[in-house]
Amino acid sequence: MQPQQVSILGSTGSIGVSTLQVIEINPERFSVFALSCFQNTDLLFEQCQKFKPSFAVVADEQKYAEFKERLQNAGLNTELLSGVEGLETIAKHEQVDQVMAGIVGAAGLQPTLAAAQAGKRVLLANKEALVMSGKLFIDCVAISGAELLPIDSEHNAIFQCLPTGTQGIEKILLTGSGGPFRTTPTEQLAHITPEQACHHPNWDMGKKISVDSSTMMNKGLEYIEACWLFDVECEQIEIVVHPQSIVHSMVSYTDGSVLAQMGNPDMRTPIAHAMAWPERTTSGVQSLDFRSIVGLEFEAPNEKHFPAIRIAREAYQAGGVASIVLNAANEIAVEAFLQKQISYTGICGVVEETLQANINGHETELDGILAVDKETRRIALEVIQKESGYNEASTG
Ligand SMILES: NC(=O)c1ccc[n+]([C@@H]2O[C@H](COP(=O)([O-])OP(=O)(O)OC[C@H]3O[C@@H](n4cnc5c(N)ncnc54)[C@H](OP(=O)(O)O)[C@@H]3O)[C@@H](O)[C@H]2O)c1
Repeated sequence: MQPQQVSILGSTGSIGVSTLQVIEINPERFSVFALSCFQNTDLLFEQCQKFKPSFAVVADEQKYAEFKERLQNAGLNTELLSGVEGLETIAKHEQVDQVMAGIVGAAGLQPTLAAAQAGKRVLLANKEALVMSGKLFIDCVAISGAELLPIDSEHNAIFQCLPTGTQGIEKILLTGSGGPFRTTPTEQLAHITPEQACHHPNWDMGKKISVDSSTMMNKGLEYIEACWLFDVECEQIEIVVHPQSIVHSMVSYTDGSVLAQMGNPDMRTPIAHAMAWPERTTSGVQSLDFRSIVGLEFEAPNEKHFPAIRIAREAYQAGGVASIVLNAANEIAVEAFLQKQISYTGICGVVEETLQANINGHETELDGILAVDKETRRIALEVIQKESGYNEASTG
């Protein structure tokens, strides 16, 4: 059997690097067809030297010419592309079997959608793409016959706990660690620094998802992702805080059974699962040693401490373009926090205020989604400028 050809959107990120590690230990199953980065051409170059892909994409067009010369000087035959068109090309190329959607944020929407339209196996890490495009994305998968396999550890766990579909389900229990500030007094949250927020207790991830995990906006986005991925009512999805990140999510059935998927917190497990499905393969992750686990705790999330969960749930329930606005406003707010322009608690403040701006548009067409995303970013930046008082007011 020929190895499956894999394109990795965002190969220089945390998910991308983990995907390459899984491919490296499974050379008979998987082969790298294409790699991509935004600006980190140094790492992309190292990856090209090692994996010799047919294509590489530098999304930032300004870096294209310099990188092309570098590839040529190294005698590599990798064809170089750039921009969104380049990303779409490697996502839908006829020789590609699987596409890892590992770009962070809205930038991943178009190539991920292109992979779905082309009927590929889509390994969905880029939850923002599904949050933004919901019905359009799911319809696209249904029409093309693409295989949509979740990479988020929680959704991958739920998928594994649904061996016969959603018949007989009582609820889905979407777990989350609660992040680094679960026990921080709520009144101290305003003083959290970007360095503290980027340091997750259990997972090693990119900056944006680390901040989202700490505010639990990541759980809010995952709630929306789960509503689209699984055929259940959104009221059947319950968020449960589980600080140890050993149970990655659970499904509770009407007969009282609860199925849980467990494992060490390492993204190579869901990546290997989704890439090899319906078979199993090695991931390089050690299996759990139950004798060394001291305890597994579960609790309800405190939505006063973590308002992002409520904000995301309300955005999904509002329907229309609200989830697109939620996502774009959050991306802008997180970036402003990382740049120290707003305080930590200002992130949710900016998102809520932007959601109140009554942005209109069409959520069922790509152009409409992109227009709402763009308009939201403009408004969120205005909110940040107007309300830089979030920072001053909260940091004194
Ligand atoms: N990390 C995890 O453990 C984890 C777990 C579950 C889900 N996810 C999801 O997976 C996605 C990726 O997360 P991550 O932690 O791997 O992020 P990351 O480490 O920040 O990597 C992001 C990747 O996207 C590329 N990228 C950034 N902006 C881009 C743009 N405008 N155009 C094209 N490419 C761009 C980056 O390229 P450069 O390196 O050149 O900047 C990098 O390759 C996110 O949606 C996240 O929610 C991640």
